[in-house]
Amino acid sequence: MKVILLGPPGVGKGTQAQKLQQERGLLQISTGDILRQAIKNQTNLGQQANDYLKRGELVPDDLMLSLIAETLFGDRAPQDYILDGFPRTIPQAEGLDKLFKQHGDNLDAVILLEADPQAIINRLSARRTCRQCNSVYNLLTNPPKHPQKCDACGGELYQREDDRIETIQRRLEVYTSQTAPLAEYYRQRGQLKTVSADGTPAEVFQRINDTLGG
Ligand code: AP5
Repeated sequence: MKVILLGPPGVGKGTQAQKLQQERGLLQISTGDILRQAIKNQTNLGQQANDYLKRGELVPDDLMLSLIAETLFGDRAPQDYILDGFPRTIPQAEGLDKLFKQHGDNLDAVILLEADPQAIINRLSARRTCRQCNSVYNLLTNPPKHPQKCDACGGELYQREDDRIETIQRRLEVYTSQTAPLAEYYRQRGQLKTVSADGTPAEVFQRINDTLGG
């Protein structure tokens, strides 16, 4: 099964993708995590992407498309996965369609998570992420047992640089202008399913699971 998770920053894509990985065996492919790892490792990709992430802007489409082509169709191509953070623009969606066509493959579903903008800002401001395994916590709604340590692996928890309030605002603007039009793109293809991201992560997961079916 190949699924895209769409939705604004902080709506819970990463949280739900991790649950889908645990419960349904879909590999979480988070382009944000891949880019942050590349920045940490100071790779060529990381050096090119760093300034965009800091500003809350999107990394250029050509760079993202070659990254996704290698990740999805390279030597270690996964069978079942969930795309968390890709595509983010119409050219990325068109590029992905082309890649699927070239490889005789297709998407199963596109899930759009929706939530109120103030809830999103509250979620992002209290987010903490594990440097080691990328597990996501929230100081208010899903606190770790120890404020600076990951429950899963003991790694250090940190606040993402782009979770500062001014960068959050910019990411929301970028989402509205460049990513939100993807909903219509996939609706016209009959692939879009909208799911409310209100409620606890478990409640949201139940809705996604029901939407994807058995
Ligand atoms: P990326 O890492 O993809 O960030 P994002 O889309 O902005 O999404 P987030 O990771 O901020 O939020 P999320 O929806 O995953 O929410 P989460 O589950 O963590 O991208 C970062 C940057 O990389 C971009 O700005 C761009 O520069 C670049 N980039 C990446 N992909 C790109 C692409 N394709 N093209 C170009 N550039 C790209 O949850 C948030 C918080 O809420 C957590 O604390 C969580 O615990 C909590 N929470 C989750 N669900 C609930 C709930 N139901 N109730 C209460 N709290 C909840």
